[in-house]
Amino acid sequence: MSEILETSGDWLDLREPEDAVARSLDLARAAAALLTEGPVVVHDLGSGTGSMMRWLAPLLPGPQSWFLHDWSSLLTGQAITQARPSDRDNAEISVFGRTGNLVDLSAEDLAGASLVTASALLDVLTSPEIHTIVGACIAARAPALFLLSVTGGVHFDPADERDAAFESAFNAHQLRDANGRRQLGRYGAPIASGLFAEAGWQVCKTTTQWRLDHHQSGLLGEWFCGWVDAAVEQDPQLRTEADRYRRDRLAQIELGEQGELGGLSVLVDHVDVLAWPSP
Ligand SMILES: C[S@@+](CC[C@H](N)C(=O)[O-])C[C@H]1O[C@@H](n2cnc3c(N)ncnc32)[C@H](O)[C@@H]1O
Repeated sequence: MSEILETSGDWLDLREPEDAVARSLDLARAAAALLTEGPVVVHDLGSGTGSMMRWLAPLLPGPQSWFLHDWSSLLTGQAITQARPSDRDNAEISVFGRTGNLVDLSAEDLAGASLVTASALLDVLTSPEIHTIVGACIAARAPALFLLSVTGGVHFDPADERDAAFESAFNAHQLRDANGRRQLGRYGAPIASGLFAEAGWQVCKTTTQWRLDHHQSGLLGEWFCGWVDAAVEQDPQLRTEADRYRRDRLAQIELGEQGELGGLSVLVDHVDVLAWPSP
């Protein structure tokens, strides 16, 4: 997935409905059960245009305040100006933007937090960023609900002998050095979980998946082309093969849209994590 595609509001809008279906409701309910006292203050890290808030706020008690952290003020601005969700008692929530690099997040920034959340974030962070975030949650004793981190697994139906080469190049691309930031890709979630466990926190993990077929053909096509482009950027030797591979797979997506047999469906593996301090 290209850098631009990852962080553009259009891409986040396109993936929002599938993210909402894929996120673990069990972990969200377990997080809600931890919120036993007073007003609920949630800090959403790498909030983008606020998709996590729109999904989670209706599952949590009120009154609720959300602090949306992102280094793009454009994206947090969009989140704040869009229609706001209600809490589970149907009351309006309060929303505030916080612009900055998460590598600078401190325990003071999270003071009074009831819950720290993130969605589709850990795999695009660096090691210093993850250490900082987990350290700040632990120092503030704020439970963390970090959802939809990619694990690298992708399952195509029908399978194609070219899938494995593109999957492995894409996974290597996830770990690239992008403008001086070495991203953790599929290691992001295990590292964060390990740091919480090392601090003696309870950690619960569950596997989640995007299930893409002709019902989400827009997202499937965009995701697939971004996935192939990233693989080719990582391994330019795949370029010639990529043109045929892309054409064949897009034809399968079209077949599915027309209700014909042979349409493409893809499972994209993710992991969801809830961590909270032992009593
Ligand atoms: C893949 S998007 C996910 C956005 C949102 N959570 C969602 O699910 O739609 C990752 C977001 O994290 C932000 N981000 C990535 N690294 C960051 C960092 N180091 N500091 C602040 N924001 C960051 C990006 O700007 C982007 O909005």
